[in-house]
Amino acid sequence: MEQYQLSNGVNIPKIGFGTWQIPEGEEVYKSVTHALKVGYRHVDTAQIYRNEVGVGQAIADSDLAREDIFLTTKIWNDKYDYDLAKASIEESLEKLGVDYVDLLLIHWPNPKAQREQDAWKAGNAATWKAMEEAYRAGKVRAIGVSNFMIHHLEALLETADIKPHVNQVLLAPGCTQENLVAFCRQYDILLEAYSPLGTGSIFSNPVAQELAAKYGKSVAQVALRWSLQKGFLPLPKSVTPENIEANLQIFDFELSADDVDKLDKLEGIKSQKNPDEVDY
Ligand SMILES: NC(=O)c1ccc[n+]([C@@H]2O[C@H](COP(=O)([O-])OP(=O)(O)OC[C@H]3O[C@@H](n4cnc5c(N)ncnc54)[C@H](OP(=O)(O)O)[C@@H]3O)[C@@H](O)[C@H]2O)c1
Repeated sequence: MEQYQLSNGVNIPKIGFGTWQIPEGEEVYKSVTHALKVGYRHVDTAQIYRNEVGVGQAIADSDLAREDIFLTTKIWNDKYDYDLAKASIEESLEKLGVDYVDLLLIHWPNPKAQREQDAWKAGNAATWKAMEEAYRAGKVRAIGVSNFMIHHLEALLETADIKPHVNQVLLAPGCTQENLVAFCRQYDILLEAYSPLGTGSIFSNPVAQELAAKYGKSVAQVALRWSLQKGFLPLPKSVTPENIEANLQIFDFELSADDVDKLDKLEGIKSQKNPDEVDY
């Protein structure tokens, strides 16, 4: 598995296995077990996915050493302060059954419950402080954010001792977030592409279908290849064994610059929600 390197020198496999909407228990256990079996070495979960126990169990039961798997979780919107974030980190470690996670993210920058005048700035700063402490204590190997737009990053950078290593946002053909991407690159923040298949919305797109036929690949493989060529780290989710496996077969072909451009401009694919307006 090829890797990117984060700004703190930690290596991170170039594709991760997404687990949103995979139910806790047997289903997530089976999916993660299969993903690890066919070659994934990077798993993305979150407290709010409510599947950390099954994810952790699949990792524990695999033949792989803990250090060979890159594991991410995220702090949910109701743990948005220093003490709650600290407790939340311990809770995730316990549910996952691990001594450390490789990457810990703030899930959303502006939870609805705290959406008063500028309350989000103090909330992110306090949560971040708890994350920096966990980082220094070796409980997390990298820290980052998710769904942060430029103004959220600018505010966080004002108070952070450690700048975020990652920003996980919706990046998919047709959702390129160019200004945000340029800003993150300026600060050496790796971009993880969530919903890289637009949560399935890419499959009926005729341009994507045409390109898949041209390269003799599937629509999913073309979209994931696009993500890599943009320098993103895609996190495809699947519960279907053949899809889980096929989504890794993206290192043996190359899209032309013109086709990358066509994919940049796809229409009708799911796009990033405005984090200052979401209903949670
Ligand atoms: N940080 C955040 O706020 C946030 C938000 C959303 C997502 N994420 C992360 O990003 C991950 C992926 O995003 P996502 O779950 O929205 O969806 P996605 O990966 O863009 O798309 C998943 C959909 O595509 C289908 N699919 C996957 N591979 C396929 C293939 N090769 N052929 C045909 N269909 C295929 C899946 O169906 P089957 O399962 O039936 O194969 C599922 O319906 C999440 O699981 C999560 O880890 C993070």
